[in-house]
Order: sequence, then C-alpha cells, then structure tokens
Amino acid sequence: MAIEATLILCKPDAVSRGLVGEIVSRIERRGYIVTAMRMMQLDGDRARAHYAEHDGKPFFADLVTFITSAPLVALAVEGENAIDGCRQLIGATDPLKAAPGSIRGDFAQTIGRNLVHGSDGKESARRELAIFFKDSDFVSRRHDLERWIHG
Ligand code: RTP
Ligand code: MG
Repeated sequence: MAIEATLILCKPDAVSRGLVGEIVSRIERRGYIVTAMRMMQLDGDRARAHYAEHDGKPFFADLVTFITSAPLVALAVEGENAIDGCRQLIGATDPLKAAPGSIRGDFAQTIGRNLVHGSDGKESARRELAIFFKDSDFVSRRHDLERWIHG
C-alpha cells in the first residue's frame, strides 16, 4: 500500500462561494481521510513560500494577492495514492480543460479562480503540509482509513 498525505486548500473563492462542504464531501466520498483542518487567512510570506515554485512567473503576484485576499480552508488528506487521487478529483488547472465531474470541471470558469489546490508530488506535499500545520495538528485515523481500503 502507498498511503500518502497531501495538502488540499479550499481557496478563498471556494470559501466565499460556500463550496467548502461540497469539496470536502467529494474528498470524503472517495474514501480519503481528513487528518487536519483549519480556516485561516494567509499572510504574504506564507503564500509566497507555498507557491515558491512559481516565483518569477507572470501570474505570481496575482496568485499571492488572491490567495491572501480572504480566508481559505486547509486540509491534510490521507489515503491510498492520495496525492494523484486528489489531483484527479480536482481536475486540470484550467477549468476549461478540467473534465466534467471534477471539482474545477463542475464549478470553475477561470484559471485564476479554480477553487482548490492539491499538492503535486510527495516532496511538495511534505513541504506544503509543514507550511500550514504543525505536528500536533494531525490526528491519527488509520482505523477509518483501513476500513475504507480493506472493507
Ligand atoms: P494549484 O497549485 O493551485 O493546485 O494548481 P495547479 O497545481 O493545478 O497549477 P499550478 O501550475 O501549480 O499553478 C498554481 C496556480 O496558479 C494559477 N495559474 N495561473 N495565468 C496562468 O497562466 C496561470 N497558471 C497558473 C492558477 O490559479 C493555479 O491554480
Ligand atoms: Mg500546483
């Protein structure tokens, strides 16, 4: 088994549109387990650290302005291959290319307001989770997870 943890953000547009429940529901229905969750408004330093890979790109300043503009909800999510599985649930970065049935394909119109973030690999998941959560924020839900995976 490859149980992975990933960082999911319900971005400020998801919070203001009242879509947090819908997003968390889709993650839970897939069988992934939430092991930490918090609502917060990001400061610029944390936002720039989170999106450091995009520093220098033309959309970086807008991205940081948007992600710090209003509260978001951060979740740590665990499950079998949860990193790629959550990316699949979220859909392609550009909502126009996101499949219907994915979160972005169902609810988003533009790349700059695409509702959700999901870590794109093991190393980024580890790095990003540490930006949003400290060790004591996580609960262990291995029993719930194993029930989902093994029945
Ligand atoms: P995210 O990191 O938010 O989960 O999104 P992603 O992996 O699907 O896309 P990524 O390439 O990491 O880009 C991060 C966010 O930057 C905005 N973006 N704008 N205007 C543009 O060309 C452009 N490209 C990316 C998007 O909001 C994207 O989610
Ligand atoms: Mg990304």
